[in-house]
Amino acid sequence: MLDRPAVTPNDLRAFWMPFTANRQFKQAPRLFASADGMYYTTVDGRKVLDGTAGLWCVNAGHKRPKIVKAIQDQVEELDYAPAFQMGHPRVFELANRLVDLAPEGIDYAFFTNSGSESVETALKIALAYHRARGDGARFRLIGRERGYHGVNFGGISVGGIVPNRKMFGTLLTGVDHLPHTHLPAQNAFSRGQPEHGAHLADELERICALHDPSTIAAVIVEPVAGSTGVLIPPKGYLQRLREICDKHGILLIFDEVITGFGRLGSPFAAQHFDVLPDIMVTAKGLTNGVIPMGAVLVKPEIHDAFMTGPEHLIEFFHGYTYSGNPVASAAALATLETYKDESLLTRAAELETVWADALHSLKGLPHVIDVRNIGLIGAIELEPIAGAPTKRAFSAFVEAFERGCLIRTTGDIIALSPPLIIEPAHIEELFGTLADVLKNLD
Ligand SMILES: Cc1ncc(COP(=O)(O)O)c(C=O)c1O
Repeated sequence: MLDRPAVTPNDLRAFWMPFTANRQFKQAPRLFASADGMYYTTVDGRKVLDGTAGLWCVNAGHKRPKIVKAIQDQVEELDYAPAFQMGHPRVFELANRLVDLAPEGIDYAFFTNSGSESVETALKIALAYHRARGDGARFRLIGRERGYHGVNFGGISVGGIVPNRKMFGTLLTGVDHLPHTHLPAQNAFSRGQPEHGAHLADELERICALHDPSTIAAVIVEPVAGSTGVLIPPKGYLQRLREICDKHGILLIFDEVITGFGRLGSPFAAQHFDVLPDIMVTAKGLTNGVIPMGAVLVKPEIHDAFMTGPEHLIEFFHGYTYSGNPVASAAALATLETYKDESLLTRAAELETVWADALHSLKGLPHVIDVRNIGLIGAIELEPIAGAPTKRAFSAFVEAFERGCLIRTTGDIIALSPPLIIEPAHIEELFGTLADVLKNLD
């Protein structure tokens, strides 16, 4: 319970909401007042089961005592320290803990404030790395169709979501895209990694042949694409990408903003799939979503390539006022501790069968054309209403909220990614509600 009255605004006009149907929302607002564990509470006092860990970020569940306390204490002790040419102990401790959690061979952390900033940072590190080594002709960046890498200009350039790109001019030059890996005709209703599609990684060879590999700096992919509706890499696909990158001296960047911090049952997807990228992009679960923070993790040879020249000079002209902010660092340290105390980074692997069984039980319900899962991620793809794409899934989202479950939709796909503290009873509640929603959907 809140010990102060919930704030219920009486005028919703001024706030231009991000990635939101503003006019629809303001006619029928969905406002949360508090959260605890697996549940939100709305301003009118209804409990809503969190089926999405907020926005794929509240991996340890809500209102975790260690995190709350660490933030309170840190604000009192040291609220801010300049990020440039100065430091504070917690951020160094955090960098060490993070690289310990990362796969062997990833040794350095650069801090940002979001996934989008982590993506920009990773792309800039990739370009500058090649240049620092005297290989500055490598300027091209390769993304993938249906990829999401945040909303800044680098990220939307390598990203592959049409509405996120089409309004914003020329974007970055020198960018090309791999095909996406969604093959519903062959892979519909797969459990875990689909069988078909490893050959799609060979498209990188075609792109190399077109541009010449000596011009390509990096390939960036999400190990599991989340924002375009949970596209799970086909068996062997990521391994093949790694091989082709190695063959041509191209850096491989994994955008682990949603797959990081236990979503697949390992700390990172790199460990789950046993593929080591050169650079890892993280955010979200790093602080349990409580304070904005991201981190870019790199191999030592990338970091070391910058450590040349006179020692009084800045090596990498990049950083943010809030890179490694003390309060964010304290939140992240307490988050990592909470994950460790409760073995949350491997919990998705333990729950995967229960989760997958419940999810796949929706097969056969009206409009369901595919169901797919990996770790504690699930997707239910619906047949779009002719002439009104996205409308059916959006109705499911609104109806699920009315019935007490928070889900997320993208296009006509329902995506689920609950906090890793979820229990079998919550799984039952979530899929029971969803089955009712789907049975009653137009
Ligand atoms: C894979 C991926 N990269 C980047 C981002 C952007 O993160 P942020 O919204 O924190 O900027 C997201 C956000 O959902 C994401 O899923």
